[in-house]
Amino acid sequence: MLRRVALVEATLAISSAMAASVTCPSNLPFSCSNTTTVEDLCCFNAPGGDILLTQFWDTDPSTGPADSWTVHGLWPDNCDGTYEQYCDQNRQYTNISAILADKAPCTLKTMQTYWKDYQGDDESFWEHEWGKHGTCISTLEPSCYAAADYQPTDEVADYFTRAVGLFKTLPTYDWLSAAGIVPSTSQTYTLAAIQEVLTAHHGHNAVIRCSGNQLNELWYHFHVQGSVQSGTFQAVDPVGSGSTCPSTGIRYLPKYTTLPTTTSTTTTTTKTSTPTSTSVPTGTPGALSGKGYVKVQPDGFMISTGNWYRASGTPATFTATPNSDDETFMLKTSKGPCQVLSDDSLSCAAGLTESSFGYDGTYLTYDGTATFYAASAPSGQDKGVVYTSEQAVSLQMYWQPL
Ligand SMILES: *[C@@H]1O[C@H](CO)[C@@H](O)[C@H](O)[C@H]1NC(C)=O
Ligand SMILES: *[C@@H]1O[C@H](CO)[C@@H](O)[C@H](O)[C@H]1NC(C)=O
Repeated sequence: MLRRVALVEATLAISSAMAASVTCPSNLPFSCSNTTTVEDLCCFNAPGGDILLTQFWDTDPSTGPADSWTVHGLWPDNCDGTYEQYCDQNRQYTNISAILADKAPCTLKTMQTYWKDYQGDDESFWEHEWGKHGTCISTLEPSCYAAADYQPTDEVADYFTRAVGLFKTLPTYDWLSAAGIVPSTSQTYTLAAIQEVLTAHHGHNAVIRCSGNQLNELWYHFHVQGSVQSGTFQAVDPVGSGSTCPSTGIRYLPKYTTLPTTTSTTTTTTKTSTPTSTSVPTGTPGALSGKGYVKVQPDGFMISTGNWYRASGTPATFTATPNSDDETFMLKTSKGPCQVLSDDSLSCAAGLTESSFGYDGTYLTYDGTATFYAASAPSGQDKGVVYTSEQAVSLQMYWQPL
């Protein structure tokens, strides 16, 4: 079970020494929450009042520290999930690094670590984020600054400084890791478990996005009272595009790790060598019963914990008991009943509840499929965890009656 962490105060008052923008009254409604028209868009973000701080978990290639998410951007969405983009051709600056070196050197330093382009071109990435999204934030319009001391690009420094400040209040890696959700090449996680942790801290759901089954992006939504540069941010539930992850079998891969296969968005399952022609007994599809060994294709066998073992030794004796449907059966070993757990891993242990398995005449099946998976083929005396959801290596299991 996940430890439920105390809900943080949802309203984040972020004070900062900002450039000379207009001072806003403190009694204005939060953006997207007004019941009448608010005229002064220098103190009220509109139409882009739903502000998103978005984060990446890049592993292919990896960017940023191995123990931190990185910034994607600060985006003004309209209150219905649509958004404007590229709002000012005259402010598509191509010297973001120079602007920040001059006006916000600490912000720049943080960005050089935590706001990384996966192709290594941070400046272009920052220009893109500012030009596409930053120019659409109403309170960052040059006219919102006191003419007397406004210098062109002051608002660029404010945009990046606020984005970095907000990012620091959202330490995703630490939140997940405190709840046991850590990068792993073998473990998988459920969407519900990840959401529960993020919601406990953010106070509201975050949008959790995957590339295939790999966790790679989060969107945190806020409404703002006052300006983006110096107002109060309040966490809110997402509107618009939702999570794109599967509900189970989510992989949160470590950064800077060479995996047995590439981790790009293409399907990368390595089919282990085609079944060797060792004799795989065949039989009548349906429920198995009695005692037997569970052997693995391409090699090895299952041991009593429900793990895959490839070194020499004696396979565990499994007992198959048909269910009343006569189509499926339960398995147990000396350790206890065999169950597919909520992270899709197979385990046999005391106290577990038997899952239902099938037999297609050649291989054991789960949920109608005969393909099982492991993060890698175990070597030496290693015991490989077997999964029902996709992993780098696929395998089949067959029954050798005793
Ligand atoms: C909230 O204020 C914005 C900006 O003035 C306006 O466009 C919008 O119609 C207002 N919403 C309501 C419900 O009055
Ligand atoms: C960045 O570019 C803008 C527009 O060309 C210019 O006004 C500004 O002086 C430049 N800033 C720096 C620090 O180079």
